[in-house]
Amino acid sequence: MQHDKVLILDFGSQYTQLIARRVRELNIYSEIHPFNKIPTNLDDYKAVILSGSPMSVRSEDAFHPDLNGIRGVKPLLGVCYGAQYLAHFSGGQVAESNTREYGRANLSFVQENEPFLAGSSSGSQVWMSHSDTIKKLPTNAKLLASTHDVENAAYKIEGETTFAIQFHPEVYHSTDGKQLLENFLVNIAEVKPDWTPNAFVDETVADLKAQLGNDKVVLGLSGGVDSSVAAMLLHKAIGENLYCIFVNNGLLRKDEFSSVLQQYEGMGLNVKGVDASARFLDTLAGESDPEKKRKAIGRVFIEVFDDEAAQIQDVTWLAQGTIYPDVIESVSATGGPSATIKSHHNVGGLPDFMKLNIVEPLKALFKDEVRRVGASMGMDKQLLGRHPFPGPGLAIRILGDITAEKVRILQEVDAVFINGLREWDLYDKVWQAGAILLPVNSVGVMGDERTYEKVVVLRAVESTDGMTADWVDLPYKFLQKVSNDIINKVKGVNRVVYDISSKPPATIEWE
Ligand code: XMP
Repeated sequence: MQHDKVLILDFGSQYTQLIARRVRELNIYSEIHPFNKIPTNLDDYKAVILSGSPMSVRSEDAFHPDLNGIRGVKPLLGVCYGAQYLAHFSGGQVAESNTREYGRANLSFVQENEPFLAGSSSGSQVWMSHSDTIKKLPTNAKLLASTHDVENAAYKIEGETTFAIQFHPEVYHSTDGKQLLENFLVNIAEVKPDWTPNAFVDETVADLKAQLGNDKVVLGLSGGVDSSVAAMLLHKAIGENLYCIFVNNGLLRKDEFSSVLQQYEGMGLNVKGVDASARFLDTLAGESDPEKKRKAIGRVFIEVFDDEAAQIQDVTWLAQGTIYPDVIESVSATGGPSATIKSHHNVGGLPDFMKLNIVEPLKALFKDEVRRVGASMGMDKQLLGRHPFPGPGLAIRILGDITAEKVRILQEVDAVFINGLREWDLYDKVWQAGAILLPVNSVGVMGDERTYEKVVVLRAVESTDGMTADWVDLPYKFLQKVSNDIINKVKGVNRVVYDISSKPPATIEWE
């Protein structure tokens, strides 16, 4: 890659990924590495950022890496714990704070015309989250700014391009945070902001061409954003040598198999649609246990995919839509010094006997970057903006055992809900939405008749990554209309409820 790179050393803060995203929003490529695995080839990085941490630098098992090869050598910015550790490491002193500072604070500048603070103004809001404080600045440090409760809120080390801030510039509540990151990276460290989606596409396509030559690649399309964007990049690089397989497991949304397949064909992809609904539903018959349902679906998917891949002569590569959060190595939040790799539903899972090489063109990107890359290739907005949908599909939204009739009911209900969200311009305001079919009947009355029919749940959540989520405050008028439409249009349903649980303690899916 010909672009300047920024290294973010992770000390386990919940905000580390957010730092990487903010840096990338400046069109600068950044990588997260755990503090205890500092890359040996530091020459590859133009600047270094030290993240926050749940630890205290005063604790015996705190993270104390050797910064000698970095401080004074590379432009360096310490954030929160990073700022405290920089002080601790360089002759300053960190102590427990008398007044813990969480949330909003206002920054008062101590220096005029300081390039690090350019474009921001004294009094601007910053976001704090710390219980230790820097009591004594390190040797040769110059104070840049304070808040009401924190004297040493920002400092630099004279004669170096080393800066430190007690607040979090990466959260939106720090109103000038992005400006400060830009000042540090672009103006002070002179990192070139040229990592754009277009540049990513051009370089990735060139790399894929060189890597794959005339080899054949197989890829499983899911209808989701990641696999679709990965397919488009590979299609640009190797054209017909990319063999896409789109499996209908019978548990997709209403009409999704045919409409998405058509869309893929319209994009010029070499795609084969395989309708294996009956095989999936037969295997699932009588099974109510959520994990067993998931396992059965995973197993049948592999069998179907494997059968199809075996029909492609001389295929040597398997492409996957893995993205950066799936592979990122991060320090565990509990503070253990060992780095743990986050596991994810979509990583791995393919049988050994396939013995294909793996190619993952999106593995350096965050989800929003995948969308921007897709947009820069002219891909359909609706496809790029789709809500996440679980691999096992409606199977984990039909509580209890699965039958064709239950799938039909849920597909109809889900379609009324999702189409309603689109019509009311709410779809893009929601991170994920869907309907759940409960295994209970309730009494109702339609006309003069007593009914005894199914109950469905509507669920809509806000989230950034699915790890935590909150239910969405959808307008009552909308819920009223959708509930009415569902009960009037979908035979077999007489009651609609809305799920108002957040995650944690609930999860997004009911199974
Ligand atoms: P939960 O229910 O764990 O869901 O709060 C978090 C996110 O993960 C999705 N999800 C799955 N995705 N296979 C998948 O591919 C699964 O088995 C699975 N279970 C949950 C869920 O839709 C949400 O986006």
